[in-house]
Amino acid sequence: MAAVDRRLETLVVEDDVHFRQTLLEFLHELGHDASGAGSVREALEAFDGQAPDLLLSDIRLPDGDGVELMRKVRHAHPGTVVLVMTGFATVNSAVEAMRDGAADYLPKPFSMAQLRLAIERAFETRRLREENAELRERLERNGGRARLIGNSPAMQRVLAMVERLRNIDSTVLITGESGVGKELIVEALHDGHARRRNHRLVPLHCGAIPKDLIESELFGHVKGAFTGADRDKIGRFEHADGGTLFLDEIGTMPLELQIKLLRVLQTREIQRVGSSRTIPVDVRVIAATNEDLRAKVERGEFREDLYYRLNVIPLHVPPLRERRSDIPPLAAHFVRRAAERLGVPLREISRATIARLMAHDWPGNVRELENALEYALVMSGGAREIEPSALPPELDGGARPEIAPEVEVTPEGIDFHDVVSSVERNLILQSLELAGGNKARAAQLLDLKRTTFVEKLKRIERETS
Ligand SMILES: Nc1ncnc2c1ncn2[C@@H]1O[C@H](COP(=O)(O)OP(=O)(O)OP(=O)(O)O)[C@@H](O)[C@H]1O
Ligand SMILES: [Mg+2]
Repeated sequence: MAAVDRRLETLVVEDDVHFRQTLLEFLHELGHDASGAGSVREALEAFDGQAPDLLLSDIRLPDGDGVELMRKVRHAHPGTVVLVMTGFATVNSAVEAMRDGAADYLPKPFSMAQLRLAIERAFETRRLREENAELRERLERNGGRARLIGNSPAMQRVLAMVERLRNIDSTVLITGESGVGKELIVEALHDGHARRRNHRLVPLHCGAIPKDLIESELFGHVKGAFTGADRDKIGRFEHADGGTLFLDEIGTMPLELQIKLLRVLQTREIQRVGSSRTIPVDVRVIAATNEDLRAKVERGEFREDLYYRLNVIPLHVPPLRERRSDIPPLAAHFVRRAAERLGVPLREISRATIARLMAHDWPGNVRELENALEYALVMSGGAREIEPSALPPELDGGARPEIAPEVEVTPEGIDFHDVVSSVERNLILQSLELAGGNKARAAQLLDLKRTTFVEKLKRIERETS
């Protein structure tokens, strides 16, 4: 990066003349070559020449939107580092700006020390990113596509299964709630197959395709097979030849198509719709579902013979709430990835935040966790660590019950120690219950050391016995 050995060129876009002056003076002190603009138009004119290294822009401008300005600038000059300044009313736009490549945002009012820190961080991040880009590209080329994180016994079992299936063609049926990572496992299975890896992994989301089109999607059709079929079309089976076909949401496949699929799985050949020619296909099939297929079989909604054909190797992925020890490493992974992708500074996750994440039930599973951490990272602005207040509303504790009940001192007086121990007792037992009896997790919920928690619990047990 060129910025170290020469003066940084910075453009400040701010319509408040006084504040703009303050910023410019400070940037000059820092050794920047800084100039100012008071509107989108002035800023774009300034950009006509050479792109500055840093754009420091307000969001609300008299003749337009700082986010729009940023998009134009980044489009023309991807190397320019952008910091946006935001008032309370434009926080949402700040989030949008970060998604579109702003390095960070500074909530007004901010101190010059904060500004300086944000600038340093942004350039440091850009430097690291440039350094990492090449390495990452190499890793990706080497098939490091799917990285499954998880130390819980449940996840370890899944990983062991993926390992055992290396280079094996067996049909796999992956079950698990939405967002548990089924698709990622399919990728891992495909990548773990030395021969198939060099061919396609072709997904078909059975629920997303109109019923009368699935057959042609799967097997293709010939010209004139039905109205609208104005030329030959190759289906997913043929596309996946040599590779893997991933039938997602298999439970939604119409019954009349299930029989056709079954036949293909048995004969390993297909016929395009409208043609009687059989075409051999070499495809490994992996199916996934978040429904209870067994129950569907019993209700007559899914063919039993197809069920057994698919369920050769069953692979169940438990919901995140049943493997909570995966939460901390996943969270760290997602923060790292979001920071890298959005080009924002990496931040640690505070202990209290981890406790909050561990206590949540994650109905949307890993996908929900991933989104929550991207949100939290973006919302953390200039903070050193990701605190619970940065989490999405359903997690930030806003809706949690009062932690300390109101206790009133009556004119007769109360017993301080009695009241305090009853509150303490209440909290200890509540958290133990919330943590399903897991003391380490209960302690985290109260932000207590495990030893402190256990001591208090013992005392309560002594007092009650
Ligand atoms: N063990 C894991 N390690 C790292 N990332 C994961 C893991 N599990 C899931 N993810 C990530 O979580 C997100 C959701 O996973 P995925 O799309 O595979 O879920 P799914 O089970 O296929 O969901 P759906 O049933 O809704 O299709 C993806 O971005 C995926 O990369
Ligand atoms: Mg999926």
